[in-house]
Amino acid sequence: MRTYHVVTIPGDGIGPEILGAALRVLERVQELSGEFRLEYEEREGGAACYEKHGVNLSKESLEACRTADAVLKAPVGLPSVRFPDGTEAGLLGGVLRNGLDLYANVRPIKLWPGVDAPLKAKPGEIDYVIVRENTEGLYLSRGLGVGNDQAFSDTLLMTRKGVERVSRFAFELARKRQGSPSDGKRRVTCVDKSNVLRSFWFFRRIFQEIGEHYPDIEKDFLYSDAAGQDLVRRPWRYDVMVMENFLGDLLSDLGGGTVGGLGMCPSGNIGDSANYFEPIHGSAPDIARKGVANPLSQVLASAMMLEHLGEAAAAKMVRDAVWEALVSEDMVIQANGQPRGGSAAATEAVLRRIRKA
Ligand code: NAD
Ligand code: IPM
Ligand code: MN
Repeated sequence: MRTYHVVTIPGDGIGPEILGAALRVLERVQELSGEFRLEYEEREGGAACYEKHGVNLSKESLEACRTADAVLKAPVGLPSVRFPDGTEAGLLGGVLRNGLDLYANVRPIKLWPGVDAPLKAKPGEIDYVIVRENTEGLYLSRGLGVGNDQAFSDTLLMTRKGVERVSRFAFELARKRQGSPSDGKRRVTCVDKSNVLRSFWFFRRIFQEIGEHYPDIEKDFLYSDAAGQDLVRRPWRYDVMVMENFLGDLLSDLGGGTVGGLGMCPSGNIGDSANYFEPIHGSAPDIARKGVANPLSQVLASAMMLEHLGEAAAAKMVRDAVWEALVSEDMVIQANGQPRGGSAAATEAVLRRIRKA
């Protein structure tokens, strides 16, 4: 039996609820598959952890994440829990992404059936992946901003190594995909602000250099402000998009808004020797403990994790079950991003449809 050691972080707000849903789905998949086993190690992390222990993630937990086969993390953070400098204390982005050097943040934006989404598009017609640079850019300044009462500055930094590896990752990903929904062409779009900022011209030049090694893939360029419009107006054109950290943060949430809300959006934080999988959204304190959160972001994050572990058939079992539950309208995602009938009913709808591959 193939066995994987998986660290789980239940997090804050809706985190424990949606992680619970994903773990039930994973349990059912393991029962039916019978070919692999996930051994879990739960670790505290986030805002509640900070309030209790004075650290948002212990050193031991970070080491557990480093050595695990995979990490399944739920959202963390509470706006009321802050460091003395005013930034939030419960967030693990810096700790895990920089701590484990997870340079590619993979954020698939896909329109599923059964979703009351704001655009006129059919399921599958929106299907692109944002590859967000995850270890530098503006967020490298996390905790390092300087200033006083009159002015403040955070520095955006791009390195050759950082841009090369994330560009290469984006091109390799495009090779594994089927191209854009509108024309089937494999395309990597570089999103930047190189009309104005030199660091973004640096980003674009290095992207182009790496792109020369991928003659089979179309290179495409888009300024980030125009990208905001295009991802609403004609998202079907896009296949893989690569961009700086802060831009990827913004545009992936925008993408989520076009496909039924952040609750439809999983992600993977990938490095050369560690990883973690999580929803792109936060801990949604406004709906915590109400039983209304969409658990699919966490369920689909667990499918991404299975795929990364090499369990592609199991990942497909999860995605097929989600698709069938949505297509049959046994589960419907309402315009407010919440499943009709609540989280528990949505989870049951997926569980009922998990079949052996
Ligand atoms: P958020 O992503 O938590 O919520 C934004 C909106 O989307 C809210 O209206 C929320 O109810 C809704 N939403 C989010 N997930 C949903 C789901 N699964 N189903 C239905 N609706 C959902 O963003 P926020 O409110 O700006 O931040 C809340 C906290 O989360 C903050 O502390 C923030 O710093 C933190 N945060 C953490 C992560 C992370 O852990 N990766 C990511 C983003 C924000
Ligand atoms: C995300 C989040 C995080 C980020 C925050 C909460 C640390 O917004 O994963 O998109 O900065 O990227
Ligand atoms: Mn974000």
